[in-house]
Amino acid sequence: MSVTVRVPAKVNVQLAVGAARPDGFHGLANVFLAVGLYDEVTVTPADELRITCSGPDAAQVPLDATNLAARAAIALAGRHGIDPRVHIHIAKDIPVAGGMAGGSADGAGALLACDALWSTGATRDELLAICAELGSDVPFSLVGGAALGVGRGEQLTPVEVGGTFHWVFAVADGGLSTPAVYREFDRLTAGTRVPEPAASGALLDALRTGDTAALAAALSNGLQPAALSLRPSLADTLAAGTTAGAAAALVSGSGPTTAFLAEDGAAARKVADALMASGTCRDARIATSPAPGASLC
Ligand code: C5P
Repeated sequence: MSVTVRVPAKVNVQLAVGAARPDGFHGLANVFLAVGLYDEVTVTPADELRITCSGPDAAQVPLDATNLAARAAIALAGRHGIDPRVHIHIAKDIPVAGGMAGGSADGAGALLACDALWSTGATRDELLAICAELGSDVPFSLVGGAALGVGRGEQLTPVEVGGTFHWVFAVADGGLSTPAVYREFDRLTAGTRVPEPAASGALLDALRTGDTAALAAALSNGLQPAALSLRPSLADTLAAGTTAGAAAALVSGSGPTTAFLAEDGAAARKVADALMASGTCRDARIATSPAPGASLC
């Protein structure tokens, strides 16, 4: 018997970053929006815990105990006195190490799949608590839709979305390390007063009314200067999408994936074609949002 869970990628439509806390994490006002690019996580009883991965970027996915899917299975099993002997297979479609929470998606997916396989009876709150232990973005991968994350991003409040948004994601060659991008943020902001992060009312209104032009005007990513500092070529990708008519362009989370908001599906196609022709990215993916959270197939 196997259980498969489908789990979405995310884009941060607002990522307001505060100063580093004593624990090294940064206080955030992080507005997550789930987008319709999905990984599928399948768990099957096996002799021992092992992970396999398929998909174009499978070679870049760690298959050891550092994989959040393995850590999720071990964390859930530990709480319920279960021996986590499962084969976890990840069918990967979310860009790897790209700032789209692909690793977090696999953690949330494996957690939900193992929970169903083992019939643990865990409550939603218990699953969310395990997600928060696994990583700042993992709870959002479980819930999907749109949400404001505060604290280090793990304390979620749902956000209403009143329409469909059209996106293009430009996939860069190679990843960017999230801790390295936060360290660069610290370096760039050293000696300045970093304001307390707060959610933008204009951005939340744009999501609620489904207004693409208003969302385009309100998008912001406090990690973007740090990502551009570490990977200056991303400026060329952003410019290529903007020239092709994107309503707005920004780095997705800690990057290096860049996100382009388009007026409609036809505009998204045009932006994606132009990005591919520009030679400034490895791939251009079209997706809409919001998307549902982790769900059993
Ligand atoms: O929580 P997660 O494991 O995804 O975080 C990865 C790294 O990103 C952390 O070790 C930290 O360096 C950085 N981070 C941060 N502040 C946050 C979230 C992540 O500094 N709010």
